[in-house]
Amino acid sequence: MDYLVKSESLENLATPCVVAGFYHKRKLTPAAARLDARMGGLLEKLLKRDDIDGKPGELLVVPHTPDESIERVILVGLGKKDELDGRAYRKALTAAAKVLKDLHAKQAVSALHEAEVKDRDMAWNVRQFIEILEASLYRFTELKSDEGKQRQRLDKFQLLVEEADAPVVKRAVAQAEAVAAGTRLAKDLANLPGNVCTPSYLADEAERVGKKHKKLKVKVLGEKDIDELGMGAFLSVSRGSEEPARFIVMEYSGGPAKSKPYVLVGKGLTFDAGGISIKPAANMDEMKYDMCGGASVIGALAAVAEMQLPLNVIGLVPASENLPSGSANKPGDIVKSMAGITIEILNTDAEGRLLLCDALSYAKRYEPAAVIDVATLTGACVVALGRHPSGLWSNDESLASSLTAAGETAMDRVWRMPLWEDYQEQLKSNFADVANIGGPDGGSVTAACFLSRFTKDYPWAHVDIAGTAWKGGAEKGATGRPVSLLVQYLVDRVA
Ligand code: BES
Ligand code: MN
Ligand code: ZN
Repeated sequence: MDYLVKSESLENLATPCVVAGFYHKRKLTPAAARLDARMGGLLEKLLKRDDIDGKPGELLVVPHTPDESIERVILVGLGKKDELDGRAYRKALTAAAKVLKDLHAKQAVSALHEAEVKDRDMAWNVRQFIEILEASLYRFTELKSDEGKQRQRLDKFQLLVEEADAPVVKRAVAQAEAVAAGTRLAKDLANLPGNVCTPSYLADEAERVGKKHKKLKVKVLGEKDIDELGMGAFLSVSRGSEEPARFIVMEYSGGPAKSKPYVLVGKGLTFDAGGISIKPAANMDEMKYDMCGGASVIGALAAVAEMQLPLNVIGLVPASENLPSGSANKPGDIVKSMAGITIEILNTDAEGRLLLCDALSYAKRYEPAAVIDVATLTGACVVALGRHPSGLWSNDESLASSLTAAGETAMDRVWRMPLWEDYQEQLKSNFADVANIGGPDGGSVTAACFLSRFTKDYPWAHVDIAGTAWKGGAEKGATGRPVSLLVQYLVDRVA
């Protein structure tokens, strides 16, 4: 998509499609009022006749205008002017994005970002619209064979601005485009099936991203290297599969050499059948999404490099499959992690933490400012929180509040969960230092507690995205979350 930021008068604009807002009781926004003047009061008249009252997301689509240089006008309800908050505004944007998609317009001009949204600024409005628009237009068609018949889609989007707002809006567009591209990459990788997106494929994609940016170095460690590092927990998972494991290391150096890096760690299970503790068949296909943490880390690094953020950021993705076989982990097996901690594997389906604990130990070598791991770690997290926020655990108050704030800004939210010592005893093992499961109670918490044993040396946060990384059912597909959260957190770190 081409985004243009232009100050142009609505009085003589020519476009196939223009989008503007109106409030409760048919009160037009400034842009809508100027359009209405040009149209001889038609909009006001139609709004009255249709008796639309302007709830957030309500639409008035005028498919023809007296002066034909504008083909269609889309008016979007914004609700009551003094009640317009982020949520209502997003509802309006979602409706606008849907109609733009359904109309198959190739070009559009929008003034929707002029709305005053409570506690937000124009840059935020712009970023939200672009992210919502990109999400609405996203399709995953790589593996469909009838692509020839696609109708035209939006590829040029102009934001109408006052001269004075242009620099702010341009910066917001650049950030939104980088986030949208990172999100798209994460979605594409996630939507690919397990027989295409293997650990090696994921590694190749990360390397491809690395080749695009001078300041981004990507190296890929194979099983021999992983073994030499002593990552016995990680390697034990991959031993059950024919596909070799990969440890993807992405190093972005945008900041001064001595400034401490932020390390993002993403769970990269390109398929999780559960191993010997095999999962039930229903919906097992969705376990191709068990690499969404890894995909979001790759997407976030791509966005950060694209934006050339003046920070040092590391991405670590331990990638593997989890399958049952003669060489797979067995319940009761004991493995030794890179940290030297021995782990009794009581359930082979709790494999994510086995990869993550070794990647988290590896992170130590960077003397990080903070480490954030992102993982589709537990079904229990979905039970606890549903599918709106991702779960957040942290051993550091300031990191937890920064992530929470970034989530609110990006509207890619997290909800903090306890990491109390009280839970730790559920992980007791009679035969090893720790068990890999903590029983049926508080499963998402004991998973975080397991990880916390490996993260004592730095500020750390764990984000469980099991409920947020993809949607099931008729709309099945990856969401690209939490690329936007991660990038916002990093953007906020730039003083
Ligand atoms: N990848 C799954 C978690 C998961 C399951 C995410 C369903 C989203 C939807 C993870 O590897 C897993 O299997 N976790 C187990 C842990 C249990 C064995 C302690 C789970 O959640 O059932
Ligand atoms: Mn599992
Ligand atoms: Zn898993």
